[in-house]
Amino acid sequence: MPEPALSCHSISCRAGGREVIHDLTLEIHAGERVALMGPSGSGKTTLLSALAGLAPLSRGQVKVDGVPLGENPAGRSRLALVLQSYGLLTLLTAAENVEVALRAAGRTPARAIEQAAGPLARLGLAGHAEHLIEELSGGQQQRVAVARALALDTAVLLADEPTAEQDKDHRELVLDELVAAGRRGTALVIATHDPEVADRCDRVVQLRTAGQRVVTR
Ligand SMILES: Nc1ncnc2c1ncn2[C@@H]1O[C@H](COP(=O)(O)OP(=O)(O)O)[C@@H](O)[C@H]1O
Ligand SMILES: [Mg+2]
Repeated sequence: MPEPALSCHSISCRAGGREVIHDLTLEIHAGERVALMGPSGSGKTTLLSALAGLAPLSRGQVKVDGVPLGENPAGRSRLALVLQSYGLLTLLTAAENVEVALRAAGRTPARAIEQAAGPLARLGLAGHAEHLIEELSGGQQQRVAVARALALDTAVLLADEPTAEQDKDHRELVLDELVAAGRRGTALVIATHDPEVADRCDRVVQLRTAGQRVVTR
């Protein structure tokens, strides 16, 4: 059995002065799609941040391809994260947002332009690629954030409620692209309230506010 693409071992994580994630262990293999569910405030965003190496752990460790993130910060380049708040550069265009991320990940300018175009088009943004972020709707901005993460073609993709601002048709587009990334071997963790998103995943990890027990199917 190969090492999981992403794993966490007995992690605990504090936010707002209390333990939000308590003693959580998860293993996610290449190509596996995991839905992360639970009520608002149950710790989905905190857990995704911890898995991305962005939130300090009070206990345990996160590993990418079996190597602890703490010992190998380069492991972070194997991860992409779609933030709940998108994290876009509002004074740049949609295409430039994706291209900047690709450049930061080491692509040449020409490759960045080439690799940004496909995900933007597949997410219904071909006609908006040259628009400034501040000219786009919330749903369009969210799809730019998803396109940026997909364009990076990472081993692990973490997405925080990536369909929350989408209408039905665009939700399908986003989901189809995430599932396609899974088929190419990306390990996916998708925080969601949407049962239809969960239905397209292999496994559901349910965070519970009371007692932080984790239930999976
Ligand atoms: N920066 C922060 N400051 C204070 N409290 C926080 C912060 N981030 C998260 N929390 C608290 O941690 C808990 C989990 O939040 P979060 O991970 O955002 O949950 P979810 O994404 O499931 O809605 C909540 O009680 C929230 O109030
Ligand atoms: Mg959240």
